[in-house]
Amino acid sequence: DIVVNAAKKIAPVQSTMWGVFFEDINLGADGGMYAELVKNRSFEFYKPLMGWTPQGSQVKEGSFLVLNRGFAQEANPRFLRVLAAGAEKGKFGLSNEGFRGMGIKAGLRYDFSVWYRQPEKGVTMYLELIDEKGGVIGSTSFVPDQSADWKKGSVSFTSNATSPKAKLNIWFEGNGQLDLDMISLFPEDTWKGRKGGLRADMVQMLADMKPGFVRFPGGCIVEGHDLTVRYQWKKTVGPVEQRQQIINRWNAEFAHRPTPDYFQTFGLGFFEYFQMSEDIGAEPLPILNCGMACQFNTAEVVPLDQLEPYVQDALDLIEFANGEVSTKWGKLRAEMGHPAPFNLKYIGVGNENWGPQYVERLKVFTKAIREKYPSIKIVNSSGTDPEGERFEFLNKELRKMGADIIDEHYYRRPEWFLGNAARYDSYDRNGSKVFAGEYAAQSDRTVSIHNRNNWLTAMAEAAFLTGLERNAEVVHMASYAPLFAHVEGWQWTPDLIWVDNLRVYGTPNYYVQKLFSVNKGTHVVSALSGGKALTGQDSLYASSVLDENAGELVLKIVNASGAGVNRNIVVDGLKRNGNVIKLVVLKSAQLEQVNSLDQPKAIAPAESALQVKGKKISLNLASHSLTVIRVPVK
Ligand code: AHR
Repeated sequence: DIVVNAAKKIAPVQSTMWGVFFEDINLGADGGMYAELVKNRSFEFYKPLMGWTPQGSQVKEGSFLVLNRGFAQEANPRFLRVLAAGAEKGKFGLSNEGFRGMGIKAGLRYDFSVWYRQPEKGVTMYLELIDEKGGVIGSTSFVPDQSADWKKGSVSFTSNATSPKAKLNIWFEGNGQLDLDMISLFPEDTWKGRKGGLRADMVQMLADMKPGFVRFPGGCIVEGHDLTVRYQWKKTVGPVEQRQQIINRWNAEFAHRPTPDYFQTFGLGFFEYFQMSEDIGAEPLPILNCGMACQFNTAEVVPLDQLEPYVQDALDLIEFANGEVSTKWGKLRAEMGHPAPFNLKYIGVGNENWGPQYVERLKVFTKAIREKYPSIKIVNSSGTDPEGERFEFLNKELRKMGADIIDEHYYRRPEWFLGNAARYDSYDRNGSKVFAGEYAAQSDRTVSIHNRNNWLTAMAEAAFLTGLERNAEVVHMASYAPLFAHVEGWQWTPDLIWVDNLRVYGTPNYYVQKLFSVNKGTHVVSALSGGKALTGQDSLYASSVLDENAGELVLKIVNASGAGVNRNIVVDGLKRNGNVIKLVVLKSAQLEQVNSLDQPKAIAPAESALQVKGKKISLNLASHSLTVIRVPVK
């Protein structure tokens, strides 16, 4: 029997218990969730014309120049000068390849925009969307005005066919000089229809999980290979054409496509992260650089006596999120379209940082944040090794400091997850809380291009998650990592959600996360077998929560063995309300089974209702399965 004491609440389950961790890795943002279709729209990539290919005659019809304004315009120094010399339509132009091509849909409106200036009227632009076979699937023209100053122009047109890998041609006709910058193309069907917004299908996958928080923007990109390319939130807010791009830290490392063409344009910047978190009902959890670059690559740190600007960035971020519109940063938030505060409650200082250097810097941040914003909870890093010496040292130091929340990461083999469901049973109930901030079971090994999101990894994570849920008194947040990957542009695997230019699918690991999150409940209660928590005995794992809002008891059981087993569920403490219970089962007979773009639901939750009689609910738990049981109670 598995006996659940539904009346004895052990602890509340935090609303933040299950969340998502977003990083611009694997084309997660640029080329992914940020719906911009034009690659290198403002010519700031490492090679200025990366993504662009000149078309037609560059001598007889005209020529191109990239001008660099350098320090005069540090955030966006380069622009394109088109010098047309009597160019005929279709003979002189540029083609943009998109990130891995452009995903274009039939019947959808596309919004083209460009910043330009033109001393004399004389050049007309013709736009064409071209499919893989070279056919034109949408076109329009744009006639720039005469304008000595930069101005924004736009035109919209509709595609008449679908193409997963289209490109955009721009042809120039006429005579004279035309300067162009921020050449942009967005689909109409962005998340909430926001112009220049996010890919709706990708955001919807997150919304469907009902996440309690969104951690952003990383990950290693917070730290940077070196401090010059660390993530600086202030460079990601304000008008999009004034955000300063940097090369993405995930560009070449581990890449099976080592072209350094992965940049952070910051079209998805901190304002957009806050806004998306709000849209999907999740707490925003920004992580900031703590004055240290990525310790895997370099030992670069900022001297302690020069840490002040980093700390100021943290204080200013809280003002940006929560400040009155009369404050400097609150005013910017309002100008960007959100006068109401975002109600930020958490801030992270450091990602995977360790050693005494981290502790020293963290102390400075903590003092400043607690002094000015005592109600903000600070998330601390505990490095990357959940058992090693570094972790032990930090865990002790951070707890001594009275850390609010400590972020633990584990990228381990499935056996580790199956063997660690009791990890938090011995943690101090009254001390710092835990954020399981990055985890994923690795089918091959940590950092391997052979890792797959197969059912074994997902099931092992499910077993481990029962341990997190059982310990909701200590564990207040958890998120899988990385979140997104583009099938043609990834550097890291496994990943929770995979996409191409038009499609998206959830891995078995996604369904595990989602099932825990949407069945979060309000209070953890005990589920015991022979008086003990199920942490792997007979390959069974279990946790249980009461959902006071729904009036239901929720039980999650993982059967990690290769044989189905029968168990009776006995609900003590509360009475069953009716004779129908709901079951959701996620399983596969093959541990190697994966989902894919063509078979997105090879492994997906199957729901059913079950009539029960008497006090005991007898269940057959399928081999290699996660079963979620919802029992109405009163
Ligand atoms: O999730 C991928 C990377 O793994 C993150 O950027 C980093 O925090 C961790 O090492």
